[in-house]
Amino acid sequence: MPTPSTPSPQRIGIPREIFPGEKRVATVPEVVEKLIKLGFTVSVQAGAGEAANCSDEAYRAAGAEIVADAATLWRTVDIVFKVRPPTPEEVGLMREGGTLIDFIWPAQNPELLQQLAAKRATVLAIDCLPRTLSRAQKMDALTSMAGVSGYRAVIEAANAFGRYFAGQITAAGKVPPAKVFIAGAGVAGLSAIGTAASLGAIVRANDTRAEVADQVTSLGGEFVKVDYEEEGSGGGGYAKVMSEGFQAAQRAMYAQQAKDADIIITTALIPGKPAPKLITAEMVQSMKPGSVIVDMAAEQGGNCELTVPGEAVVRHGVTIVGYTDLASRLAKQSSTLYATNLLRLSEELCKAKDGVAVVNMEDDAIRGLTVVKDGAITWPAPPLAQAPKPPAAAKPAAAPAAKKGGHGHGSSGPLPARTMAILFAVAALAFWFIGAYAPAAFLGHFTVFVLACFIGYMVVWNVTPALHTPLMSVTNAISSIIAIGALVQIAPPDGAAGGRPDELIRWLAFAALVLTAVNMFGGFAVTRRMLAMFQK
Ligand code: NAI
Repeated sequence: MPTPSTPSPQRIGIPREIFPGEKRVATVPEVVEKLIKLGFTVSVQAGAGEAANCSDEAYRAAGAEIVADAATLWRTVDIVFKVRPPTPEEVGLMREGGTLIDFIWPAQNPELLQQLAAKRATVLAIDCLPRTLSRAQKMDALTSMAGVSGYRAVIEAANAFGRYFAGQITAAGKVPPAKVFIAGAGVAGLSAIGTAASLGAIVRANDTRAEVADQVTSLGGEFVKVDYEEEGSGGGGYAKVMSEGFQAAQRAMYAQQAKDADIIITTALIPGKPAPKLITAEMVQSMKPGSVIVDMAAEQGGNCELTVPGEAVVRHGVTIVGYTDLASRLAKQSSTLYATNLLRLSEELCKAKDGVAVVNMEDDAIRGLTVVKDGAITWPAPPLAQAPKPPAAAKPAAAPAAKKGGHGHGSSGPLPARTMAILFAVAALAFWFIGAYAPAAFLGHFTVFVLACFIGYMVVWNVTPALHTPLMSVTNAISSIIAIGALVQIAPPDGAAGGRPDELIRWLAFAALVLTAVNMFGGFAVTRRMLAMFQK
């Protein structure tokens, strides 16, 4: 009697990326182990992870088989994981009826879709994931790559910029903090805001979608509004093309920012449209010499008129960085995140953990991703039945959001009302006890002590941590109130015990007065200079 045959486990293949300069790899050794636990077998082309610091030995130790050449790899595997869209030659190597999981950009690459369909392939385009489905976030490679790129854009800016990001006062002089302006506060923009703020720069940002203002602030930036009322959301968390009136008002505001900023990082994109031109040649000319622009939209035409995609050029004394491989420049990090996104997708495709991927077109996330199914082009996917609201927190994890009004538990917010009431009751009882039994002199000193603690606590608590250094210098200056002691010694009040002091005490008091005056006036002067650094 024939037994029902169970399909044999499928083999996943990782070819070496051939796009010039591409350093990423579609999986890393740590993830290979997890793919094997799902029941798959894994082949990796020799040297595939070399540029991302993943050696063949590490893949082998994780359980992968190393295959010498691309042709053998493409021919012998069932599913190919890749980063860059395949070239026609790579599609030629693919086996009939195989599966490909990759960035595809079907709107820009219609011929590629045709070629893959002719191979009767099944293709999951990771860039087509319905990102607003909260279940899909773990597979969202666009967000992973944008986060890495935003970080790297700041590092590239720092590399081209001739100064510190953070302000400093050193013996050699005052260094003002760098002013960074970020155009577009999507995933990449928010990552850049968090990174630039953590390096100590003054960060401002603008976006046509007003809902991102709170996210900008929570990452340490200041949201700069365009003086024109228009809703900028085009649906699904993305932007739309704005009206002429808005664009004119935005240009005026950007012209102001360009004159003031040291660094501009542009990230503005509108799906399916060329990148909006936000930074004109005149704005570049108005920037200070030595300023830097990093145009993250370079590949889509650029947000700056003078950007040269893929290159760093100097125009009017301003370095304009138009690199299109920012994620690849942090290859280990971006490969690890991408590999994890593909692992999460593999878990969705292989729920039985039997090493067989099932492309379930009834599943909204999988349907959105699938652009070719068994040779039939299935792109674009129908719109989601009811698009859920994008979660507000689509921002990089690096961002420590300020916690407000927390409920104790080590948070920096005020204590809850009940705890406050109990504390006050206990303090009042203790005070009554001291008043009833302690000597009168002690009570006087104790009252002053408690009030001093209370005022000190309230003052320090209400000052943001960034201003604690100027706060210290001002309290130091205020402590010069001890000068009163020296003044009393120089000229004691009439009738004070002992009459006029002898000459030695008067000279000592004079010296004390001079030193205290230095502390007092110097302290206030330093505080003023420090506060000036925070003024925008
Ligand atoms: P993107 O890369 O398409 O655009 C970048 C930013 O440029 C956007 O914030 C956009 O509003 C802004 N922009 C466009 N035109 C502009 C202009 N003329 N001036 C200034 N700014 C302009 O977008 P990205 O980063 O891929 O995602 C955008 C948003 O999508 C996220 O902030 C989030 O709200 C949403 N999203 C939701 C996810 C989820 O729900 N899981 C996942 C990823 C994104």
